[in-house]
Amino acid sequence: MPPMQSGRATFEGAVTNRLINFYVSRSAALGLPIVEHAYISLTGKLSPKQLGIYDDALISGFEQLASAIHAVGAPAILQITHAGGVANKKVINAQPAGPSASGKMRELQKTELEAIAEEFVLATERAVKAGFDGVELHGAHGYLLNQFFSPLLNKRQDEFGGSLEKRMRFPLLVVNAVRRALTGKVLLYRLGADDLAPNGIQIADAVAFAVELERAGVDVIDVSGGMCGAEPKQLRKLQGYFISQAHEIKQAVHVPVIGVGGIAEAAYADRLVREEKVDLVAVGRALLKDSTWAFKAVETLTAAPKTNVDVI
Ligand SMILES: Cc1cc2nc3c(=O)[nH]c(=O)nc-3n(C[C@H](O)[C@H](O)[C@H](O)COP(=O)(O)O)c2cc1C
Repeated sequence: MPPMQSGRATFEGAVTNRLINFYVSRSAALGLPIVEHAYISLTGKLSPKQLGIYDDALISGFEQLASAIHAVGAPAILQITHAGGVANKKVINAQPAGPSASGKMRELQKTELEAIAEEFVLATERAVKAGFDGVELHGAHGYLLNQFFSPLLNKRQDEFGGSLEKRMRFPLLVVNAVRRALTGKVLLYRLGADDLAPNGIQIADAVAFAVELERAGVDVIDVSGGMCGAEPKQLRKLQGYFISQAHEIKQAVHVPVIGVGGIAEAAYADRLVREEKVDLVAVGRALLKDSTWAFKAVETLTAAPKTNVDVI
């Protein structure tokens, strides 16, 4: 299950019983449920009832969430995020800040970048304390780490902007810092691999970035859209709409790669793994609509002899 904001946290970002139930009811048949994006600092908040992990007082709720997921036999991974320039101005009560000044967003100063990297580390430490098996850094769908990577938003002239190498620098700084704080646990990176725009991120940039992420110690690369978002209009009717990007990345790295996008049929998901297009398949909205989707998928796939699966 890919991370999906459920709108079930409190206004302070705390875990609720409703949120725990959302994960418990889906996790028993899942290999890797990833809990929805939790903001690492108040300035990185996107929506009123978003989950948050910006304060030690929130750890006890996450402890309950992690142990409830473990109790049904699944590992627990938490996605952590900072919305950067698209943080909700009304919610954060300040001007949103990102890589460069544009529209309503102001440019982050270098000292603020160090502070944000430290907030990612503190959030990671809280997740570990709460019993999570790992964290996923949200570097897709136009949020802060993605804003630095994409030339569409990053117009900086310093060492954090310009060339591909410089645009990778801030996300890699965060990865390195988080990696140090996550000994023995799993680090995932959700990579915005395609902006679907002529001057934006192209797959070749994403492949180069994935290689660097692997080198920096990322254990799993979760491939999705960049500035175009998770459900781009031009692709969303296609089953497996970000699989080709994930497959290109898979060919360039050794760590497992997750593919996603409009997947609704168990046999199709199974085939993607069997044919080694990707290592793991994420199913989002289908699981949102039907909490028993994964149970049914297990039934369907174990009932059908493997040789009957169409591999073309
Ligand atoms: C309601 C909803 C909330 C989402 N929240 C997140 C999120 O918190 N973090 C994230 O990386 N993606 C989020 N996504 C994107 C999904 O993880 C996934 O990439 C997208 O829905 C495409 O997969 P699907 O076609 O299987 O639904 C969300 C999607 C939906 C529908």
